[in-house]
Amino acid sequence: MYDIEVKDLSVYYGSVCALKNVNLKVKNKEFLGIIGPNGGGKTTLLKVLLGLVKPTNGSIFIKRDNTVGYVPQFTFFDRDFPINVMDVILMGKLPKKFKLFHRYSSQDKKRAEEIMKKLGIIEFKNRQIGQLSGGQLQKVLIARALINDPKILMLDEPTASIDSKTKIEIYEMLKKLNKDKTILIISHDMQDIFSYIDSVIYINKTLQYYNHRNNLKLNKKVFKNETAYTELKER
Ligand SMILES: Nc1ncnc2c1ncn2[C@@H]1O[C@H](COP(=O)(O)OP(=O)(O)OP(=O)(O)O)[C@@H](O)[C@H]1O
Ligand SMILES: [Mg+2]
Repeated sequence: MYDIEVKDLSVYYGSVCALKNVNLKVKNKEFLGIIGPNGGGKTTLLKVLLGLVKPTNGSIFIKRDNTVGYVPQFTFFDRDFPINVMDVILMGKLPKKFKLFHRYSSQDKKRAEEIMKKLGIIEFKNRQIGQLSGGQLQKVLIARALINDPKILMLDEPTASIDSKTKIEIYEMLKKLNKDKTILIISHDMQDIFSYIDSVIYINKTLQYYNHRNNLKLNKKVFKNETAYTELKER
C-alpha cells in the first residue's frame, strides 16, 4: 500500500541539523507536494530517499522493485560541452560502474525517442545542450529521469525560473505520469501545483504539517508577503 515509509528520520551534517524525527508515509501513486522555507531540509529528504545522504537516525523503506527517477534542484552543465539532448537523456541509463565508451543499445535509443515525443522535445533530439532554453533543458532532465521507467519520480523545484506556460506544460505532463507513478515534488509555487497534488507536507527541520488537498484551500490574500505555509488554509 505504501511506496515509501520514513520512520523517526534525523539527518545531521556535522553539527547542522537538517531533519529531525521525520515520519512520513507515501502511498502508491500519491502526488505529494513538499514545501517549506529555504534550508528547511526538503532536498535533504529526497537525497536520503535516494541513498545519496545517510540518515543519522531512523530508517527509510522503499517498496521492493520500486525504481526511482530524480530531477535534481541544480544541474550544472558546461554550456560549451559538446553533448546533445539524446546523449544527456541516455546518461540516465549509464551503468553504476562507469565504463569509458559505453554503448547504448538501439532499444535504449528507441525508448529515449518515445519519451522525447511524449514530452514534446523530439525536435531537439540532436541539439547541443548549450543551445536550449531553461524550460527546454528542464524537460530534457525530466526525460533523463524517466529513461528507466521509474515507479517513483522525485523532482526538486523543477519549474524554478520557468515561464508560466511551460510550467503548466510540465505539471500537466506530471499529472499524466502520475497515472502509474508515485510523484514527490518540491516546489515554492504552491499556487501553481495546488490543483495537481493529492497531498502536501511542510518541512522546516521537522515535518510540521501533512494534509490532503481536499482539506485545504489556497489563501491567496496572504500569498504575497507570507511564507508558503500560510498560503494554505484548512477548509
Ligand atoms: N552537504 C551539506 N553539508 C552541510 N550542510 C548542508 C549540506 N547540505 C545541506 N546542508 C544544510 O542542511 C540544511 C537543509 O538543507 P536543504 O538543502 O535540505 O534545504 P532545502 O529545504 O532544500 O532548501 P532550499 O529551499 O533552499 O533548496 C540547511 O541548513 C543546509 O545549509
Ligand atoms: Mg533544496
